[in-house]
Amino acid sequence: MSHSIQNVAVIGAGTMGAAIAALLANAGLPVTLLDAVPTSLTPEEAQQGLTLTSPQVRNRLVQAGFERMRQAKPPALVNEAAAGLITLGNTEDDFDRLAAADWIIEVIIEKLEAKRALLARLEAVRKPGSIVSSNTSGLPIASLAEGRSDDFKRHFLGTHFFNPPQILKLLEIIPTPDADSAVVETITRFAENVLGRGIVHCKDTPNFIGNRLFSPGNSFAIHYAFEHGYTIAEVDALTGPLLGRPKTATFRLQDLVGIDIAVHVAHNLYDLIPHDRHREVLRSPHMERVANELMARGWLGNKSKQGFYKQGQDAQGQRIFLVLNPATFEYEVAQMPRFEAVEAVGKIADLGQRLTALFDPRWQADRGAQLAWAVVSFDLAYAAACAQEIAYDLKSLDDAMRWGFAYEAGPFELWDRLGVAATAAKMEASGLVVAPWVKAMLAAGCPTFYRRENGQTTGFYDWDQQQYRNLP
Ligand SMILES: NC(=O)c1ccc[n+]([C@@H]2O[C@H](COP(=O)([O-])OP(=O)(O)OC[C@H]3O[C@@H](n4cnc5c(N)ncnc54)[C@H](O)[C@@H]3O)[C@@H](O)[C@H]2O)c1
Repeated sequence: MSHSIQNVAVIGAGTMGAAIAALLANAGLPVTLLDAVPTSLTPEEAQQGLTLTSPQVRNRLVQAGFERMRQAKPPALVNEAAAGLITLGNTEDDFDRLAAADWIIEVIIEKLEAKRALLARLEAVRKPGSIVSSNTSGLPIASLAEGRSDDFKRHFLGTHFFNPPQILKLLEIIPTPDADSAVVETITRFAENVLGRGIVHCKDTPNFIGNRLFSPGNSFAIHYAFEHGYTIAEVDALTGPLLGRPKTATFRLQDLVGIDIAVHVAHNLYDLIPHDRHREVLRSPHMERVANELMARGWLGNKSKQGFYKQGQDAQGQRIFLVLNPATFEYEVAQMPRFEAVEAVGKIADLGQRLTALFDPRWQADRGAQLAWAVVSFDLAYAAACAQEIAYDLKSLDDAMRWGFAYEAGPFELWDRLGVAATAAKMEASGLVVAPWVKAMLAAGCPTFYRRENGQTTGFYDWDQQQYRNLP
């Protein structure tokens, strides 16, 4: 059966739901955006004589989410006409409106029972053939649809947008074994062609692809840094653009995400992957000590105006950036970190050449090069270790890191540029395990993850066929 998407609905008007509604409206689609009904009045509402039956109270949450989205920077909506395509409502008075939608996206709080209850209600109102998806970051997609009918399950899948969607174009699509392939194809084509998304199909495994790679990698960088006495400013100077990654690097990103949220995500993932021998980094005692103290003090990052960084003033009243000393919990004036190796290679524009130069044996005693190598080699080894568990092909991991985290190159693209066999040997010499399929690839006479012919990338290694497969 083919599906046509003309009318969409988003349930949950928080950070992600309102932004997803904007994305759909920007593409010219009418969108119904619903949120829950408040269970108590604010003091202002009570003072105005409003009650829980007043329409403006009942739509308070959706209205607030919509207004916050309109203030987003960079803007979430392309113009006023797009704003006009979004109709607001609540999940009690307006639930029947969902019957008109061809695609309904669930974007409510990350709680299994709340999502399941909502899907049960949706089953009763959705029109035949309509598609339902969840934006969950980590709950198993199949478990959300437990208890639903076979027809519902055929039309249900995970659609994981990245924050903020107006910047990050990754959309992870997670079909369950029950999902109809025509449904998956419809959402894939629509999201690619109409919403401009970069699509990655994922297996239904904990945190899917992007976040599964990112959380352990980030936790490892923090663990290694604290274990070896690097300052926060040093880590951020080394793990941003030098490695082809955004300026938010490691600790600035923790502040942006919120230290409490980052810890919650790491702990959640830890519990979900008991089979993963790298998972201990997610509960690094060094990070736990610092994060627990920061959380106890309420220093959660940007939302509480201090975390690993804080803005201050110098004696002349000029704005300066202060950085946390994780040993004393005092803030200190950030010094520009200096590493001889980084100064020597920093001007090399090409990422592969820059890192090849940085990882040259001549810099092996340089602390900057040491941390950079530790972080990159962990990420490459980890990506290879879990690739077959989480993805259908290696390219999905690269696309996820470029589109979802703004990395210049994904793990296998970077590994190719560093030289696969030589880097694998160096990783083993550093005590890392290189995944068997990578060794099988080299043994099969495939020296790189991607096949390049006449300066063009024409294919990538297919771990099932043990040979290159043409790019689509
Ligand atoms: N924030 C992110 O960076 C991000 C990124 C990707 C995916 N996600 C996922 O997207 C979902 C939403 O996350 P968020 O950050 O937008 O959360 P949020 O807390 O900003 O918003 C959640 C919204 O859902 C509403 N809500 C709660 N229960 C409801 C119900 N039963 N019916 C209707 N509305 C209800 C809340 O009032 C709130 O407006 C979660 O599953 C989360 O894991 C979040």
